[in-house]
Amino acid sequence: MADLETNLLKFKGYYFRNERFNINLLENTDDFEVRDDDVFLVTYPKSGTIWCQQILSLIYFEEHRKRTEHLETADRVPYFEYMFEKLDFDESPSPRLFTTHLPYYLVPRGLKNKKAKIIYVYRNPKDVMCSYFYFVNMLPIFKAADTIEEFMKQFLEGKVMGSLWFDHIRGWYEHRSHFNIQFMAYEEMKKDLRSSVLKLCKFLGKDLSGEAVDDVVRQATFESMKDDPLANYENVLNTRVGVTRREGHFLRKGTIGDWKNHMTVEQNERFDKIFQEQMKDFPLQFLWDI
Ligand code: A3P
Repeated sequence: MADLETNLLKFKGYYFRNERFNINLLENTDDFEVRDDDVFLVTYPKSGTIWCQQILSLIYFEEHRKRTEHLETADRVPYFEYMFEKLDFDESPSPRLFTTHLPYYLVPRGLKNKKAKIIYVYRNPKDVMCSYFYFVNMLPIFKAADTIEEFMKQFLEGKVMGSLWFDHIRGWYEHRSHFNIQFMAYEEMKKDLRSSVLKLCKFLGKDLSGEAVDDVVRQATFESMKDDPLANYENVLNTRVGVTRREGHFLRKGTIGDWKNHMTVEQNERFDKIFQEQMKDFPLQFLWDI
């Protein structure tokens, strides 16, 4: 079985990608000065991160909506803990938009000022797992898992970047009262993108015109993002992530229930059993299929 751990670094109980993560920043997150108008997009990997990066960027930057400026989405909503670019966050103009996969206990303490906003995007974990399986096979740095079975073991043991899915979502949800946080379900965004964009605008206090909301929605669909070099991460993968790449795309399928095409009945039952044990009494609902 491929050993994912060799590509991972456990730091403060959480698995990071072994290189490029900003250890100085993470050792001193409590010193990181959070501004009241900062926004943190928080996700477990493969839950719709780049999708929500794109939506946030379109909501915040008129130049992005109008396509008059050509900065990649990845740069408009940069990762907090990974250094794909040399960025000095202290110098970045407000409002700063960040992306992170961090668990609740590793984010800067200043986020508890309850003014800075957090958006937590979650997705049903069977689709997360299948999406992740393709991801590790696309980027050999994560050591490919040959089969879903092999990857499912790693995923359910939390031996992946992001650690255990159950801990990530539970941790954030159970500590929600410490933060100014809005939970968003991938599946809700998929079913009704416009309503999701409006919900986000409301949470963010952004009063966009109907036309601007239309622009956001139009440019945040799977199809338009797949064709948009500023949004589809092809550039980032090819030139910046610094790893060899096999066949595959970040924007792979973008559907609900793809796990049904990959998991056997037995795997599904095993997954369900663990899900029920781990998520007992958890109030958020998951949409597994449509
Ligand atoms: P699939 O692999 O199931 O297609 P992340 O950005 O967190 O790594 O998540 C990637 C997943 O989000 C991929 O799922 C990708 O296709 C999906 N995704 C990205 N943009 C999307 C969009 N506009 N609509 C629906 N799904 C999207």
